[in-house]
Amino acid sequence: MSARILVTGGAGFIGSAVVRQLIAETEAGVVNLDKLTYAGSPLNVADAARSPRYAFEQVDIGDGPAVQAVLARHRPTAIMHLAAESHVDRSIDGPRVAIETNIMGTFTLLESVRAYWGALPGAERDAFRFHHVSTDEVFGSLGPTGQFTETTAYDPRSPYSASKAASDHLVRAWHHTYGLPIVLSNCSNNYGPYQYPEKLIPVLIRKALAGDKLPIYGKGDNVRDWLYVEDHARALRLVLERGVIGESYNIGGNAERQNLEVACTVCALLDELAPKPSGKYESQLAFVTDRPGHDWRYAIDATKIADALGWQPRETFETGLRRTVRWYIENDDWCKAVTADKYGGERLGTARRP
Ligand SMILES: NC(=O)c1ccc[n+]([C@@H]2O[C@H](COP(=O)([O-])OP(=O)(O)OC[C@H]3O[C@@H](n4cnc5c(N)ncnc54)[C@H](O)[C@@H]3O)[C@@H](O)[C@H]2O)c1
Repeated sequence: MSARILVTGGAGFIGSAVVRQLIAETEAGVVNLDKLTYAGSPLNVADAARSPRYAFEQVDIGDGPAVQAVLARHRPTAIMHLAAESHVDRSIDGPRVAIETNIMGTFTLLESVRAYWGALPGAERDAFRFHHVSTDEVFGSLGPTGQFTETTAYDPRSPYSASKAASDHLVRAWHHTYGLPIVLSNCSNNYGPYQYPEKLIPVLIRKALAGDKLPIYGKGDNVRDWLYVEDHARALRLVLERGVIGESYNIGGNAERQNLEVACTVCALLDELAPKPSGKYESQLAFVTDRPGHDWRYAIDATKIADALGWQPRETFETGLRRTVRWYIENDDWCKAVTADKYGGERLGTARRP
């Protein structure tokens, strides 16, 4: 039975990395199901789309009949579910769309997939997998020590992370209640090519090159664990292929950095790769009011996926960031095309308590 993998959100940042890898490195057929919100673009999969093994369906995961029609048409052997509203700041300004897509959309997808999977012939039903892709943000915020493991209690604190936590619970419930063969993964902050230019690292690179202020939330001491997107995509493929049904896997880069350190490293790389006529990019750093409810530290213990599936990131933060900075310098046309009429670099996520 040849693999046919349906990727939801395959026109977004991480989903498109998964699609590109699946086309380039496997023989699998790939169905990219994506609504094409502001965050998704066909440009992200332009090369993959030339393959006869690639198909695209512009569908909302919350549209049950449309999802069912896609399942009937393409008969996937597995699903990798990445479609989501993924930006914390946008979920602060307007939480409804995160609730609708991340919770109700995942629910609708699960129901469609349950009906499809239940009607598959025995061997195909046994081989089927539903991989739910989630975030370390569901675990809440850490103090200076400790790391999230797969058994850390959920404690989400933003509309985004709460909606992702809810979707994780739904996926586990569909396994325990209906027997749907699921695997789940929770990953730390990703960075790399094709990340929508509203997230920290592309914002820093683009504003630096434009000569604008580089906004640092609060004191810049919030800590994230950073993972290069291609390493995440490889981990996701391993979890899908070899993960144990019903289990979850934490994925992280073992690269904790304070936001201010990230900004300074971006500036140093730009000084080298695109030097200003005079002065250093660090002079553009500007501290701005913190994000409301900003989680202080996330850190991932990725021992389980290393031991059980043999996964290790190939990029360090420094090598991955160098690739990323170079890519954004060379792909300003892409940045302009995906932001045109959608995002003008303004600050998001400023809704405050009364
Ligand atoms: N970016 C990260 O650092 C990170 C880390 C861990 C986990 N994740 C998770 O990985 C997944 C992908 O994240 P990303 O950064 O690539 O997000 P993204 O915002 O770049 O892409 C999301 C994609 O989903 C599509 N989409 C949104 N709503 C949809 C809907 N209702 N129906 C169909 N398609 C829809 C968008 O068009 C877009 O192509 C998300 O589930 C996210 O929670 C992201």
